Amino acid sequence: MIKVSAPGKLMLFGEHAVVYDKPCIVVSVDHRISVSIEKRNDNNLILTAPELDIKDKNISDLEKTHFKKVRFILTVIRNFFKKYDVKSGLDIKTKSEFSDKIGLGSSSAVVVSAIKCLSELFKIKMNEKDIFDLSYQTVLDVQGLGSGFDVAAAVYGGILFFKTAGKTIEAINIQDIPLVVGYTGIKADTPTLVKMVREKRTKEPDKINHIFNEIEKIVNSAKTEIENENWKEVGRLMNLNQNLLRNLDISSKKLEDLIKAALDAGAYGAKLSGAGGGDCMIAIVDENNLDKIKQAIEKAGGSIIDAKIPAEGAKVE
Ligand code: PMV
Repeated sequence: MIKVSAPGKLMLFGEHAVVYDKPCIVVSVDHRISVSIEKRNDNNLILTAPELDIKDKNISDLEKTHFKKVRFILTVIRNFFKKYDVKSGLDIKTKSEFSDKIGLGSSSAVVVSAIKCLSELFKIKMNEKDIFDLSYQTVLDVQGLGSGFDVAAAVYGGILFFKTAGKTIEAINIQDIPLVVGYTGIKADTPTLVKMVREKRTKEPDKINHIFNEIEKIVNSAKTEIENENWKEVGRLMNLNQNLLRNLDISSKKLEDLIKAALDAGAYGAKLSGAGGGDCMIAIVDENNLDKIKQAIEKAGGSIIDAKIPAEGAKVE
């Protein structure tokens, strides 16, 4: 049996613009998803996924009754078997340290873990970029949209400067980032928000492209300031990025409440992270103020997500 785990992610800078050939900065989060696979002597694909309430079920049966639950793992297996011309019955088990409702990228982490696991099981050499490419293709096959930033975080870990579809994937080499993460308790509907921004861009191309160009400048500056560990300036850039996201109309009352609480308690900067509408907000803080800011976010109705950030990328356990 082979077991592989991959981390979750949070967007630091550049959401939405990264769908339109702009860069973003993503950080991996050490809440992991693991996938264990072993070969069977028959042709059946048997899945156990406690977080989906699935125990020892045949994936072909689940495809008919619970397609939404199994579409990622099923597409992984189909794409892998097709690309590498292999076939076998499999026992597959997944295990998640985090809920798929908080926006840490559970689908990408499961896809990446499963592909790396299959490459080990069938002894097929895949480097990180090979795993990224097949994982990203799989995510696109299932959901039809997305920049792939979440897939890159799951594969490579760390903090990444990333361009749409993995045209650039560059590690920003720092060990620590003074980040506080507050969860709104509301699940963001990423596909709907991405489509909403696309419609806005069709209606008002100049306005929206201008916002994306401004976000691009912020992302480029943030890369340098993160490398220099100049957290005050990183915080200032976060606030600017958040203002532009407000202009895209994707923030929400709850996100704004948590962001304000963090800033009032002395955070250098704060913004939503991801598609908007819910999921998490993030704040860059002075380490001395950490507890005060966490308490302020909780008082405003958020829950703190404690995890090692950044985390290691996909690895065999
Ligand atoms: O909602 P999340 O955390 O999956 O982030 C979405 C980020 C977008 O830029 C809006 C979409 C994407 O695929 O890059």
